[in-house]
Amino acid sequence: MRDKIVAGNWKMNLTSEEAIRLTEDIKIQLSTNALKDVKLILIPSYIYLEKMKSYLNNTGVFLGAQDVSSRNNGAYTGEVSASMLKSIGVDYCLLGHSERRQYHKENNEGLSEKLYRLIENKLTPIFCIGETLEEREGGQLYEIIKNQLKPALDLKENYFKKIILAYEPVWAIGTGLTATSHQAQEMHAFIRKEVEKGFGDGVASETSILYGGSCKPSNAQELFTCKDVDGGLIGGASLVAEDFISIANSFTK
Ligand code: PGA
Repeated sequence: MRDKIVAGNWKMNLTSEEAIRLTEDIKIQLSTNALKDVKLILIPSYIYLEKMKSYLNNTGVFLGAQDVSSRNNGAYTGEVSASMLKSIGVDYCLLGHSERRQYHKENNEGLSEKLYRLIENKLTPIFCIGETLEEREGGQLYEIIKNQLKPALDLKENYFKKIILAYEPVWAIGTGLTATSHQAQEMHAFIRKEVEKGFGDGVASETSILYGGSCKPSNAQELFTCKDVDGGLIGGASLVAEDFISIANSFTK
């Protein structure tokens, strides 16, 4: 069966002290609310990763980065490579988050290179896709999603099998406007069908597809009950330990 996953994208939030306090609070929550069969991933700013790694020792919680360089190494000031992340014990990395697409002009070509860098260095990409409200209302929804999926679907099968997908409608991110469970299921089923077209039913049924966009304790259960929703990528609610762990414990299947 597919992995159930809840990942907390902390974005550009928290001072060092606050990041450690939140990590500690999550550990306290975990000591009283044992997780059932869910993989938990924390995705803070790069600069807290190494310190958090030691705080998370023996907790079973994984660490992810928010982005990675498309290059291996060398004269690329300000960049962080996949091998650097691996060397400090990071196992996951977000790619193609809508905020990176919007503010840093991430495109399919660059994302494709980043996918290779991560997989070659044995990190698991969490590859994000999602439409804007304009795109949804303009009737381009399926074309946009298909196009965004391209870098992932162009991978060789043994590479594709290493990735996690995240469907995050842009209009739901940080807005309080969550997709309905019907909308989420509809898109997740479409995405899984596209994976099936590329790699067959076996690979499609093993691919975890997370939902992201104003997911919170009050709606997580309804979303996670959907057949093709395998967990969540959580922004705002991941900054509150109790809410984050409550979301992680919202699976009923
Ligand atoms: P949100 O963010 O939960 O605050 O909407 C989700 C994300 O951007 O991953």
